[in-house]
Amino acid sequence: MHELMKGLILAGGFGTRLRPLTYTGAKQLIPVANKPIIYYGIEALAKVGIKEIGIVVGETREEVMSTVGNGDRWRVRVEYIPQEAPMGLAHAIKISRAFLGNEPFMMYLGDNILKDDLGALVTQFEKNRPQALILLTEVSNPREFGVAVVDDKGAVSKLIEKPKEPPSNLALVGVYLFDQEIFSAIEYIKPSWRNELEITDAIQWLLDNGRRVESQTVQGWWKDTGKPEDIIDANLLVLQDIEPDNQGRVIDSTLNGRIRIEDGALVEKSTIRGPAIIGRNSKIVRAYIGPFSSVGDNVTIENSEIECSVIMDGAKICNVETRIDRSILGKNVVINQISESPRTHKFILGDQSRVEIVK
Ligand code: TTP
Repeated sequence: MHELMKGLILAGGFGTRLRPLTYTGAKQLIPVANKPIIYYGIEALAKVGIKEIGIVVGETREEVMSTVGNGDRWRVRVEYIPQEAPMGLAHAIKISRAFLGNEPFMMYLGDNILKDDLGALVTQFEKNRPQALILLTEVSNPREFGVAVVDDKGAVSKLIEKPKEPPSNLALVGVYLFDQEIFSAIEYIKPSWRNELEITDAIQWLLDNGRRVESQTVQGWWKDTGKPEDIIDANLLVLQDIEPDNQGRVIDSTLNGRIRIEDGALVEKSTIRGPAIIGRNSKIVRAYIGPFSSVGDNVTIENSEIECSVIMDGAKICNVETRIDRSILGKNVVINQISESPRTHKFILGDQSRVEIVK
């Protein structure tokens, strides 16, 4: 039914707030429950029947392209649209005109994860055919978001970016439906103070020029993974629903709750409390893996305790006495506690790494 609607996923940007992780990789490829964040968006679009997806890419295009590929595994066709610099969400739409043509499309920010199925959004759009349909969610800190003023039927009358005095607590979520009128709006708007073509300005232009903008409110959770804490929270939310499975070897260990252990992994003399996921060929020995932990592939955790953390592929944590909590370790990171006198810490940390040590 929705085969005419195209998808546009935004996977450019700088990801400055996620440094140092984004020095070596795209933020949309950071794993949440051992799956690159952008896969959640592709799956959501494929699920509503979208067959053609354009992915806007920036500096990290090579990595995004080689990880995502041509879309076969989701039975969609993926086309890449290079953006010369992150000049705003509306700019990303503007440069995608040739791909989008005159069909309505769904735009999805490549660093967002939502629990809700997007089917109801598409149904409302097709029924009422507004020029734009935006997704909203109630937040406790509306000053940090784009905020919408809506009437009781969900019609939008005004959008304000990061308001000092928020008129509502309804923030824009990173999923939007548009028809081709959005291209006219983008022609008229000017870059903002941060020199970006803002999507909120383009939608406000539609409103100011008598076009219809409707909204729908998210029922389940939504996470914009802009900051490190957001990655940990998104990981926690996704793990809540994982399917337990054990493809690995468990020896002399205690496992409680929803746990996924992947092929070739070894869990020995350890305790795992789910929800948690242990990736392929990882070794968990004399360790404690607490709730909401995602351990990637080829990771070693020995004589150490972790909880509520994201540990990426190839990392090694050995003999660390204090529990590691709410932490993110990038690929091949090593944390090793050694008994030596004098007792010193040795660090080799990339720019903007963060270490917190307890006394
Ligand atoms: P943002 O989180 O607004 O921007 P960013 O990724 O540059 O991050 P930071 O503010 O930490 O530097 O972007 C939301 C999504 O849209 C994200 O997936 C990147 C993408 N994007 C583009 O593809 N092109 C753009 O011009 C912009 C601004 C963002």
